[in-house]
Amino acid sequence: MKPKILVTRAIFPKIIEYLSAHFDVEDNQSDEVYNDAELMRRLQGKAGVFANPSHKFASELFNACPDLKAVCTMAVGFNNIDVPAATSAGIMVTNTPDVLNETTADFAWTLMMAAARRVSESERYLRAGQWQKSKYDDLLGRDVHGSTLGIIGMGRIGRAVARRSMGFNMKVVYHNRTRLTPELEVAANHAQYLALNELLRTADHVILVLPYSPAVHHLIGAEQLALMKPTATLVNIARGGIVDDAALIAALKAGQIATAGLDVFENEPALNPEFLTLKNVVLTSHIGSASVSTRDAMAYCAADNLISALSGERPANLLNATAFKS
Ligand code: DGY
Repeated sequence: MKPKILVTRAIFPKIIEYLSAHFDVEDNQSDEVYNDAELMRRLQGKAGVFANPSHKFASELFNACPDLKAVCTMAVGFNNIDVPAATSAGIMVTNTPDVLNETTADFAWTLMMAAARRVSESERYLRAGQWQKSKYDDLLGRDVHGSTLGIIGMGRIGRAVARRSMGFNMKVVYHNRTRLTPELEVAANHAQYLALNELLRTADHVILVLPYSPAVHHLIGAEQLALMKPTATLVNIARGGIVDDAALIAALKAGQIATAGLDVFENEPALNPEFLTLKNVVLTSHIGSASVSTRDAMAYCAADNLISALSGERPANLLNATAFKS
């Protein structure tokens, strides 16, 4: 008998087929977003789950699902999964790193360029029929080339963001939990390590690329925004909760910073409605990794992790080594 698994949300049909060669699959191609009780009910008797960031996996769920052996999320971020609790319950947890580095770095640049050069604002102006004649100071933005790029979180995606700055003649400063090796700093366009506050004072464009954890909740709040240049751009492609959204809205309204490009929000998808009233912000719907080839690669990566986990092989992207029993 094949092991039973649950796929929590809709996914490419070919992935359901791929998984079905190994498992008895319960899918959710109608893409209903299960509440916690429904998720728990559907996980009864399941050995594995193909998950994504829309559900929380915590100890209560693990305790109620004694057959569960693996939670394999189709995302690099895994702040929705209590990994220590999974480890205590002997459940393997995997994510999908690396395959999305370049696509997500591209998107950080998309938001930085769009916000700094007021792309969304210009499009709204044009679509509203307001472009009757051109004027010398229409929608003046800030240059990206030749400016100082500040990256907070210098993991693989942060370094991919930094590498792209070489062609733009930019200086790169960064802040990270630990300083990079000299070799990695050189590869990241000679990035210079700075303390957080110093980076915020120095950078023209700040990009957040760090993983969420309670330790970085509201890392960027009113106090930090007050340190930034009034001409600065803030980009968040990381996770909601790293930025205090109410404080950011106040800073954008007051002109404390010039603009923001945001792909992630507190309580998404129900973002703070005040964002919608602001001109100086570019808003996207958590699509940082959403290219055709990258979402495909992420889906196969999560599926392969699940196949390994339930066939006694160590999954390539295991986050809790001690949960693996060979
Ligand atoms: C990730 O992979 O963590 C992306 O943010 C998609 O959720």
